[in-house]
Amino acid sequence: MLLKVEHLRVAFHLEGRLSVPVRDVSFEIPENGRVALVGESGCGKSLSALSIGGLVDRADISGRITGSPRISYIFQNPMQSLNPVMRAGAQIEEAVRAGERAEVAALLESVGLPRETARKYPCQLSGGQQQRVMIAMALAAAPDLLVADEPTTALDVTTQKEVLDLVDRIADERGMAVLFITHNLGLVAEHSKLMNVMYAGEIVERGPVAEVLAHPRHPYTRGLIAAVPRLDAPKDAPLADIPGTVPAPWDWPVGCAFHPRCAMADETCTSPSFKTCRAMFAVSGAGFNL
Ligand SMILES: Nc1ncnc2c1ncn2[C@@H]1O[C@H](COP(=O)(O)OP(=O)(O)OP(=O)(O)O)[C@@H](O)[C@H]1O
Ligand code: SF4
Ligand SMILES: [Mg+2]
Repeated sequence: MLLKVEHLRVAFHLEGRLSVPVRDVSFEIPENGRVALVGESGCGKSLSALSIGGLVDRADISGRITGSPRISYIFQNPMQSLNPVMRAGAQIEEAVRAGERAEVAALLESVGLPRETARKYPCQLSGGQQQRVMIAMALAAAPDLLVADEPTTALDVTTQKEVLDLVDRIADERGMAVLFITHNLGLVAEHSKLMNVMYAGEIVERGPVAEVLAHPRHPYTRGLIAAVPRLDAPKDAPLADIPGTVPAPWDWPVGCAFHPRCAMADETCTSPSFKTCRAMFAVSGAGFNL
């Protein structure tokens, strides 16, 4: 196992209020694994991933992390992460200095960019090219684990596919593991092998991607799957939406945090002694057609 995270909790004290965006997160990343973390906005996906790399300031963090892989991150919006007044090559060079002495030109070529890209400023590059520069910077540190946090949401569908195929290829070549954070279950089906579904600071369901998508158990996972647009649906059929929104991390509902939004909720779900959703013990056939 490359990395094992057990009972990760991340809390903040904000203006006299306790906020616990990550309450109890456990997951594993095998060597060369392709693991996804999925869930709606505000569920604690990024904080969990940043915590394992020690990148969260001013937080109370507890839990156990076993393994010490070298971790690199690529984020959603490269324009916010790249320095606008530095040429791409100089930025990659900085990252190279922090890690192995690899050649900037070789790194650019490995992500499918011509070496002349080194002389360009971020504003002279397309969104897909910027994301490739970010990947080159991430690779410069020769990571064992690449955390790709919504790396392609700002890109059009074709570029999205190119960038994720590139990550897959490089991960295969280098024997690198990938933790892919996304809300897009279609991309998870294509690019990950194991998935963890996160809601309100907890992992509510996990397993091999094909199994979870074909036989989701937790009502939240089922809701996420039902909300995926399907090509075989009647044209005017409304998209099934999960009603309501993710609560604030200082105000998690008592019992199962999903109960205000769950059609299956009953009094056992709101009990302070609630442990596990009863739906997890029933097998569902209503899944995602892979
Ligand atoms: N540094 C911080 N201090 C206090 N609260 C934070 C901090 N970082 C994140 N949070 C809060 O933690 C919660 C979870 O944030 P996180 O960024 O992990 O969500 P996410 O699942 O990645 O969502 P998204 O899909 O929008 O990226 C949010 O309510 C956010 O406001
Ligand atoms: S515990 Fe109850 S409210 Fe929570 S997901 Fe399961 S059925 Fe729904
Ligand atoms: Mg996030």
